[in-house]
Amino acid sequence: MVHTAILFVSLVCKTVQAFSVMSEPDPGFDTFFTTNLEEMLDVPIQFDKPLPSWLRGTLIRNGLGMFEVGRRNFTHSFDAFGKLASWKFYGNGSASFSTNYIKSDFYKDSIAKDDIAPYLMFESVKPSFNEFQKMEALLRGIDNMNVNVYRFFNRQGNNYEYVVLNDFWKIYQINPESLDTISSVTADLPHKGHSGSYTFLSFLSTAHPLPEYGTSNHFTFVSSVSLIPGIKSMISLIRIKSMEEREEVASWPVDRVPYMHSFSVTKNYVIIFAAPFFVNVMNMVRYAAPIKGLDWKSNEPTTVYVINLKTKAVTSLETANVFTMHHVNAFESGSEIIVDISSYPSPSFVKNLEVSILKDPIKRNLFDAHAYLRRYIINLSKESIIFEPIQGSRTVPFSHNLDLPTINENYRYKEYCFVYGVVLKIDNVTLSREAIVKKDLCRDDNDKYWYVENHYASEAVFIPSPTKKTEDDGYLLVPILDGYQKKSYIAIIDAVSMEIINKADLPTYVPFNLHGRFFDGVL
Ligand SMILES: *[C@@H]1O[C@H](CO)[C@@H](O)[C@H](O)[C@H]1NC(C)=O
Ligand SMILES: *[C@@H]1O[C@H](CO)[C@@H](O)[C@H](O)[C@H]1NC(C)=O
Ligand SMILES: *[C@@H]1O[C@H](CO)[C@@H](O)[C@H](O)[C@H]1NC(C)=O
Ligand SMILES: *[C@@H]1O[C@H](CO)[C@@H](O)[C@H](O)[C@H]1NC(C)=O
Ligand SMILES: [Fe+2]
Repeated sequence: MVHTAILFVSLVCKTVQAFSVMSEPDPGFDTFFTTNLEEMLDVPIQFDKPLPSWLRGTLIRNGLGMFEVGRRNFTHSFDAFGKLASWKFYGNGSASFSTNYIKSDFYKDSIAKDDIAPYLMFESVKPSFNEFQKMEALLRGIDNMNVNVYRFFNRQGNNYEYVVLNDFWKIYQINPESLDTISSVTADLPHKGHSGSYTFLSFLSTAHPLPEYGTSNHFTFVSSVSLIPGIKSMISLIRIKSMEEREEVASWPVDRVPYMHSFSVTKNYVIIFAAPFFVNVMNMVRYAAPIKGLDWKSNEPTTVYVINLKTKAVTSLETANVFTMHHVNAFESGSEIIVDISSYPSPSFVKNLEVSILKDPIKRNLFDAHAYLRRYIINLSKESIIFEPIQGSRTVPFSHNLDLPTINENYRYKEYCFVYGVVLKIDNVTLSREAIVKKDLCRDDNDKYWYVENHYASEAVFIPSPTKKTEDDGYLLVPILDGYQKKSYIAIIDAVSMEIINKADLPTYVPFNLHGRFFDGVL
């Protein structure tokens, strides 16, 4: 009798649970992937509590804004038209919000025609392009820089140049104050010997340039896919001296060109992980879609290139098959190089970031969305590389499952402890159950997280407080979508406690954001 009662109660509970999941599956999550046409400049926003006067600067973020034009839709979220959002903190207690589409050629052509114009994109459009349009798309290439925001210092002009990037050599310059688009920039390729020739297709690069230690330069890489049998493809490490001035640091031949999204730098080395996710030129041309022109070789190792910045020597190491989108940080420790990455067993999750999957509450919960933090230890004299998986902690079992990693940038190249990131599916069931975590790499018992049901967060950008007492003494700025209200707010999370200590509603919702940066001073 008691057993029957318990069985009955548990059945009812399950039914109620199932029903509530069906009737209201993570409300508002699809708003993340819904076009927002509104644009605005310097609209005042009100925080709940007074802002500290040291918080003075501009957070600029890049991300997705428009998922269809006219009757045609982008099939993959990565192809949505880039839209910038910025938050200005004036240092006098006031703050404002701006948002503006990146006015790329692709965007302008599409809006003018009220249809998605034929340009190369990550995946494709629905209804699809005809064969002629696919050729046009291939010739025009990628033009949608919806991934990251960066600034390069121009020593000649003694000024900063602000750019928006995707994983390509071409970038767009923007005005950071108005978020207006200035123009596209395709710097001359600094390769020795083959500029201007048709031997190579050199357009794959990274949306994550990194500063060079002790200088105002940056590093990036570019991959050159050979179009001529018998001539090898090439990866080149490039020094960015200004937006348009580039210098080759080292180039090395490769049999196949891997897709790579980010890399690592220490004081003396650059470390590039080349997972066996290779460009297949035939398929790239046939489908006019990079995602279909990449082959994942699950039985092949991942190659790690270590470039010595002093000698320019390139050491090539092999490690077990692994895929990464985002490196966290790297530093030198005695005779070793430590590299932390957010890794995946394969790139298969990328295919699942299609709009139709992300907007479907059943389909989006079916794929494995967890990343795994890993620490790689390289000993160059032994030419060895080993890795240690990083575990979650007792209190935050999912703290190692983060992607979109950020750190206190004052600790880049240094021994550090804290990585902040986004963890999806913290219950192992529902993709949209998203937490912002702080992983302590130095201690087992100090991981923390922020989570509110049906509030959907983007990448958390760390701003150190001027007292700099500890590495985590500072704030995380995070735009969050409140799924119940379908409204966005900007949260200030105290990085020590990982609690929201202040927030401001935004005048309009912000669709899913990829990366952003906080620039000192009000632009
Ligand atoms: C395009 O997207 C809109 C908005 O999500 C949707 O209503 C429509 O059915 C989609 N059209 C196609 C052809 O997929
Ligand atoms: C703070 O400075 C901004 C920009 O100069 C100005 O628009 C705003 O009114 C100021 N706020 C206060 C409280 O003085
Ligand atoms: C790195 O390798 C060299 C050469 O085998 C060895 O002498 C050194 O102890 C190694 N470093 C560490 C930290 O294990
Ligand atoms: C999710 O899965 C992992 C790995 O199997 C497990 O360690 C963890 O406890 C699970 N979390 C929940 C909330 O079930
Ligand atoms: Fe990225």
